[in-house]
Amino acid sequence: MAISRFSYASMRVMELEAAIKHYTEVVGLRLVESDDQSAYFQADECQDHHCVIVNLSDRAGIDHVGFKVNDPSDLVEAAEAAAAWGLAVRDVPQGEIAGQGPGVMITLPSSHNMLLFYHADKIGYANGMLNPSPGVSKNKVGAKVTHLDHTLLSCENAQPTVDFLTEVLDFSLTEKVVDPAGNIIAAFMSCTNTMHDLALGPGPDGTFHHMAFGMHSRGEVLEGVDILKEDEVPALEYGVSRHGIAGVTTIYFHDPSGNRNEFFNGAYQAAGRPGLVPPIIWDVDNFPRGAFYYESSVPEAFFDQVT
Ligand SMILES: [Fe+2]
Repeated sequence: MAISRFSYASMRVMELEAAIKHYTEVVGLRLVESDDQSAYFQADECQDHHCVIVNLSDRAGIDHVGFKVNDPSDLVEAAEAAAAWGLAVRDVPQGEIAGQGPGVMITLPSSHNMLLFYHADKIGYANGMLNPSPGVSKNKVGAKVTHLDHTLLSCENAQPTVDFLTEVLDFSLTEKVVDPAGNIIAAFMSCTNTMHDLALGPGPDGTFHHMAFGMHSRGEVLEGVDILKEDEVPALEYGVSRHGIAGVTTIYFHDPSGNRNEFFNGAYQAAGRPGLVPPIIWDVDNFPRGAFYYESSVPEAFFDQVT
């Protein structure tokens, strides 16, 4: 199975205008299109139509995550394999989601919906596609986010979803947190050569923990923090910090509906193919150091506040 990348997160928000202001003026994404029910955004260094969708709702949270496949035939293969695992599968026709072709929606054992699709319309890079300037524009608004990097979803038992993603969709397990009996508490999985595209952590099934926006440097994460503080964006009490897991510089904050975002930089590269290298293992006693390396403790809100 050839999944090429984590493409986008489709979110629920309670106020559309506030969400548009947040994802453009704070996070620094481009507004691609919108109507009175939804809005589509893309980061500066991505060509596809969107990396974030927000949909007007009466509650926050995640509607689905979108992953691109390398070939249309992968959609058929994935649908058959998911059905064979007993998972719910739904064909998503062209036009249901703006800017992309048809896809297959799979409900994971964790109760999250994952949409696999092949085609995305192209909007090009922020600096254009013909003789572009290499740097960030002096007119740039918001943080210097380059791309949507990964998401962490919450569920009560990660193991069945880890099994499906690694055994059927060929994700690599790069790091995991285990209890003394070896049960997975958190799992970090990659379908590319970044160390995680999709992670699972503890919490109620089907809930959203965060999505992370990547930047070129640790300095740009600090500049992002300045924007968060100036705009009084609600943020986790820890940060700027560093994860032991992935090793990144990080800060967490929330959109106006309470969906958690992350600015980060510095993840190591993964093998890019499943099974080439074994995962890094964190025992549960060292999880606080893995989660927040400087503080070596986890704030209560970190896992309690999910949407
Ligand atoms: Fe993250």
